Amino acid sequence: MTPFECTVRNGTIVTAADTYRADIGIVDGRIAAIAPHLDPGSTDIDATGRFVLPGGIDSHCHVEQLSSNGVMTADDFHSATVSAAFGGTTTIVSFAAQHRGMSLPKVVADYHACAGPKAVIDYAFHLIVSDPTEQALSHDLPALIRAGYTSFKVYMTYDMLKLDDGQMLDVLELAGREGALVMVHAENHDMIKWIAKRLLANGHTAPKFHAVSHDPLAESEATHRVIQLSRLLGAPVLVVHVSGIGAVAAIRGAQSLGAPVYAETCPQYLFLKASDIDRPGLEGAMYCCSPPPRDEASQEAVWQGLADGTFQVYSSDHAPYRYDASGKLPRGDATTFKDMANGVPGIELRLPLLFSEGVLKGRITMNRFVALTATNHARMYGFADRKGSIAVGLDADLAIWDPTHETTITAAALHDNVGYTPYEGRTIRGWPTTVLSRGRPVVADGALHAERGSGRFLARGTPAPIAEARAPSAQLGLLRSLIAKPAAQP
Ligand code: URP
Ligand code: ZN
Ligand code: ZN
Repeated sequence: MTPFECTVRNGTIVTAADTYRADIGIVDGRIAAIAPHLDPGSTDIDATGRFVLPGGIDSHCHVEQLSSNGVMTADDFHSATVSAAFGGTTTIVSFAAQHRGMSLPKVVADYHACAGPKAVIDYAFHLIVSDPTEQALSHDLPALIRAGYTSFKVYMTYDMLKLDDGQMLDVLELAGREGALVMVHAENHDMIKWIAKRLLANGHTAPKFHAVSHDPLAESEATHRVIQLSRLLGAPVLVVHVSGIGAVAAIRGAQSLGAPVYAETCPQYLFLKASDIDRPGLEGAMYCCSPPPRDEASQEAVWQGLADGTFQVYSSDHAPYRYDASGKLPRGDATTFKDMANGVPGIELRLPLLFSEGVLKGRITMNRFVALTATNHARMYGFADRKGSIAVGLDADLAIWDPTHETTITAAALHDNVGYTPYEGRTIRGWPTTVLSRGRPVVADGALHAERGSGRFLARGTPAPIAEARAPSAQLGLLRSLIAKPAAQP
């Protein structure tokens, strides 16, 4: 009798470090053997001519999330995870978003209630912290970190989400101390608000003015500022959805000084430009996200940063809003660029776009592709002991890629609930035709094979950047002792 419930044979395995021909044997949803030749398991998948990669991890997506303006995303945990799986992603880390006045434990419980019965692949939650009260800082966040919510996102912009610099320092200090990683949306709020006010006063309301108001300098300034806040405390920080040449340069500069500064980018900054927003009527709204797509020089800088290691992770920032009154057009024809929900969909196309335009066109190696789309996400967010690579003992989360598969993208062929894609009509090569989550084929032969609710919650450990944060310099040690919080009086 075969020892394996499933085998994947005759394929070429690609990890962040290696590329080699071997068979994979799976027992109890985990990789049990990797060898040149294995006998077939109860289920046997022939991967001849295919590349066998770790399933993708998407550590930035907004699912069943209410925006700070009260707009609900078009995808729930079923449609988002189905769409992710069809695009080769086997784990998502979406957000449990606190709005001001909300209790963090209650927010987390609410997101579990949404995700548990619906997700078809494994999932975890980052927290969004918009209200760092004493209760949150002293009690709720430390308890949640210990329970496996070891990363949180904070915002430097948006009226109802933004933290001031003092609050940012509070959160960075807590995260560094308690073992969590802070993700930062870095844009200068007042610059954006000031430009937008002038634009509207001058009658410039079309979607393309969204990109004008979110000037690249607003991103560079906030990126530079959060880097200094992080360096002051020696607390690691990950700047999310980096779009502009100035922000890339600031991050690279900090990294060259040895600062624990990490970065993420997304498909929209490689494959879209600000000029794409300039469409008839309000159509440009379908291309509006924050930060917005930029110019060719910024695209090139982002490509360069992916190749040279400035970026550790490439995520979708899937923020799915329909092109109707429920999302992009809350005021119908009278909608201005300030009224539209911000965000673009991308959970399904994230990997195929980068595989086609990055790997097959020679901009990045397939090993780097694996690092950027899976391995580094698991390391950065504290679950590399379970996922993100192909090794004995890890979950058998695998994406089997056919490099010859050619597709012309249409929204109708995707599995999200958005109704459009900003990448409509592009032809790409390469597709993950079979996708396994913990050894279960969730997508095969173009069909879904996973039940609602079959995905599992993933509690996480300490993110690698936090674990690896160097011992503080003498100067930083002295600063820390001088500014340590006084112990509470009995
Ligand atoms: O425009 C975007 N990215 N919307 C989603 C919210 C965020 O800031 O990531
Ligand atoms: Zn953001
Ligand atoms: Zn986002």
